[in-house]
Amino acid sequence: METSLKKQIKEKAERIESIIANFLPEETGYQKPVLSAMNYTMNAGGKRLRPMLMEETYIMFGGSNREIIEPFMAAIEMIHTYSLIHDDLPALDNDDLRRGRPTAHIVYGEAMAILAGDALLNYAFETATKAFCGDSSDIVTVQAFRVLTSKPGIYGMIGGQTADVADENNEISFDELLFIHKNKTSALIECSMMIGAILAGATKEQVSMVEAIAEKIGLAFQIQDDILDITSTQEELGKPIGSDEKNHKNTYVSLKGFEQAKKDVLGYTNAAIDMFDALPYRNNYLRDLLLYLSGRTN
Ligand code: IPE
Ligand code: IPE
Ligand code: MG
Ligand code: MG
Ligand code: MG
Repeated sequence: METSLKKQIKEKAERIESIIANFLPEETGYQKPVLSAMNYTMNAGGKRLRPMLMEETYIMFGGSNREIIEPFMAAIEMIHTYSLIHDDLPALDNDDLRRGRPTAHIVYGEAMAILAGDALLNYAFETATKAFCGDSSDIVTVQAFRVLTSKPGIYGMIGGQTADVADENNEISFDELLFIHKNKTSALIECSMMIGAILAGATKEQVSMVEAIAEKIGLAFQIQDDILDITSTQEELGKPIGSDEKNHKNTYVSLKGFEQAKKDVLGYTNAAIDMFDALPYRNNYLRDLLLYLSGRTN
């Protein structure tokens, strides 16, 4: 039987689904092949975790302007989806299933999958600019926009993906593994939660605390991803299992062992929750969600 939290997560994800749909491009014109490939992966489902974390953080800090938060929610899911399309390409992880469907490059070919990734990244920024109102509130929106442009970049997600791919087959230090996990995965989770806080008017100190919480949650999330790559099934995950071994990846499990990995998912999650509880605001659903992620099965 479904727990009430699981049900609540599902309902929230469905609502986010309909918000994102409002920002997706129409599939017309000579560029239709790329638009179809973009929408194909955007509409394939996915947990919608990043927009959910963004929205819940926004609500926690007292935000209520839908016209400002929604373009950013769509934008972060576009950036995340682009990162998945490119991550699955033959030149990177070479995986043929994502979100329960054949990957974009299998259906649309490699050229369109590369362009669809590029297009989603660019369209994310174009979409986020819809939050600008032309009044003094834009000062805060620009700060959020800056986070949206930097966390996915060379000092964030791309940085992590680079080390992940460059050091396949090489023995790496634990320090480098942490660099990979913090950048390829924590960066977009930090991006999501920081934008929620910034747009709601949180102070610089509060935004830094949110960043630190999200870093730990992201680490736990990626360690769990490394675990599930070994223990889960393709049906449950909607993506192939054994991808890391196939690619001779350095993972938290390959460096620290399975038992330590399981312990550290809980350790990082609890450390994040302690910091979360020290914030001067509450969102019980968000707290439950952060805890739930440590035991996620997909
Ligand atoms: C997959 O992210 C990539 C990682 C950072 C592990 P998700 O597990 O959030 O993927 P979707 O969005 O639900 O498909
Ligand atoms: C990738 O990590 C994180 C991204 C930036 C896409 P993985 O390569 O482990 O993600 P999955 O397992 O393919 O979703
Ligand atoms: Mg990868
Ligand atoms: Mg991968
Ligand atoms: Mg993985």
